[in-house]
Amino acid sequence: MKLSGNTILITGGSAGIGLAFAERFIKAGNTVIVCGRRESALQDAKEKFPNLITRVCDVGLESDRAALFDWVTTNYPDVNVLVNNAGIQQRFHVLKANANDNWRYYNNEIMVNVEAPIHLSMLFAPFFARKEDAAIVNVTSGLAFTP
Ligand SMILES: NC(=O)c1ccc[n+]([C@@H]2O[C@H](COP(=O)([O-])OP(=O)(O)OC[C@H]3O[C@@H](n4cnc5c(N)ncnc54)[C@H](OP(=O)(O)O)[C@@H]3O)[C@@H](O)[C@H]2O)c1
Repeated sequence: MKLSGNTILITGGSAGIGLAFAERFIKAGNTVIVCGRRESALQDAKEKFPNLITRVCDVGLESDRAALFDWVTTNYPDVNVLVNNAGIQQRFHVLKANANDNWRYYNNEIMVNVEAPIHLSMLFAPFFARKEDAAIVNVTSGLAFTP
């Protein structure tokens, strides 16, 4: 992937590693779009980096992912890089968790960490395949190797 001149969408880019990516990519001469659930966090990020383009989106929701793809490709058709960065870690004791009543809570981690990157990659891949330079970057964790 070339490091400048891209239009880059970073999921979960209003804080943490995603925002650090956004800062580095902006400084390297890229257009950067970030999404997150909280409008206030996106506003804070935009105050730090006025060139940042922001969009409210919960990648755990299928409808939000589809709307994000439509909005980005309509308004920023030069988009050529997707960074699947948004990720959550819900700590719980598997023997004490109540999966009968709380499955929705536990399933959200699967939706955000697993389903969202796959769905977004499948939405963007055909769009990117028509471009000269494009990339999909997945942020993972060393914890993936722990099991
Ligand atoms: N921090 C670490 O030590 C570490 C280590 C290894 C791997 N990682 C991985 O690196 C990635 C980023 O981690 P981080 O520590 O930087 O996370 P973080 O500080 O918790 O930041 C999370 C970012 O993602 C957004 N976000 C959370 N849930 C979202 C959702 N459902 N939809 C859209 N945006 C969402 C948050 O904004 P909102 O809350 O407003 O949505 C925020 O902008 C994750 O994939 C994580 O697994 C982190």
